[in-house]
Amino acid sequence: MFKGIPAEIAGIGIFIPEKILSNADLEKIVDTSDEWITTRTGIKERRIAPDDMATSDMMKRAADIAIERSGINPDDIQLVIGCTATPDMPFPSTACLVQHKLGLQNAAAFDLQAGCSGFLYGLTIASQFIASGAVKAVLVLGGETLSRIQNWEDRSTCVLFGDGAGAAVIAPAKEGSGILNFSISADGAFADALKVPAGGSLMPATEETVKNHMHAVHMDGRDVFRQAVTKMPEAALKALEELGMTVEDIDHFIPHQANIRIIESVGKRLGIPEEKTIVNLQKYGNTSCASLPIALCEAVESGRIKKGDTILLTAIGAGLAWGSIILKW
Ligand code: COA
Repeated sequence: MFKGIPAEIAGIGIFIPEKILSNADLEKIVDTSDEWITTRTGIKERRIAPDDMATSDMMKRAADIAIERSGINPDDIQLVIGCTATPDMPFPSTACLVQHKLGLQNAAAFDLQAGCSGFLYGLTIASQFIASGAVKAVLVLGGETLSRIQNWEDRSTCVLFGDGAGAAVIAPAKEGSGILNFSISADGAFADALKVPAGGSLMPATEETVKNHMHAVHMDGRDVFRQAVTKMPEAALKALEELGMTVEDIDHFIPHQANIRIIESVGKRLGIPEEKTIVNLQKYGNTSCASLPIALCEAVESGRIKKGDTILLTAIGAGLAWGSIILKW
């Protein structure tokens, strides 16, 4: 339950790579079809980062916009949280790389790993640093270069993911706006359902691991699907109930953009009408930690989300780790 100084998203920005990889393009790479991908996932195309860009470069571009829109002096940003499953490298943290690229001299920086829930976890942590009064402003980054960790011979995973980045500046809320509540959870019993098996201490890189695509995404899609459609509604209801709110009080529902069937099922379970649900996965696929900020930012830019609207964010990802945030724009 949120306690302390209320925190808000003071500015948000995104970076979307220009290169489009359509379902038709994928038909030429793996044994798949536009029809299968569209009906099973809702995805029509995804973006691919240029070869000379890493996750930190996309995050930096998104952060430039977020900081400018926030009107906050960069010197007041005292913490950078990098949320990504595709860091530039195992260490140093991608957050440190972005902190340097942005010249944020007064900011501490670290990465957090919560799979596709990274940005939601990051917002939660940022809000608590503001709530306690410990810092003036936090920069939360959510970015992915998932195209670099795909096995392009595995049709069950490579069609799902895309690249992109988002960034948000979190600061003390102005009257009536801000993060109202959050709920975050995890269950490592499902660790095998979604993972990159090699490249860590458990299975260091060898010629064999590279040959066997062990540095790429491995997923039990059905298991993740089953967990997603139960755990996301649970988190949303918990966050709402603690506030004494119901789904009726929500103006916009922004779920993690992984699969249209998951989104529809979660919406149905919660009783949220389709017209309140924001969906853009047909354009970008699953961009993991960039998914929520891209959907939120586009909805704000298009005027769909207006000042004072109440928004429900929810996500699930590798871990499994999941959660919900309720905020007033
Ligand atoms: N094109 C064509 N056929 C494909 C395919 C593709 N891209 N991917 C899988 N198939 C085939 C399978 O080989 C299988 O064929 P078979 O019956 O001959 O064995 C068939 O389609 C059904 O596969 P299945 O895995 O049962 O499909 P599904 O309906 O569960 O859909 C996912 C697969 C991955 C789309 C779905 O499970 C899903 O979205 N899961 C959640 C994944 C996710 O969102 N992860 C990230 C969360 S953060």
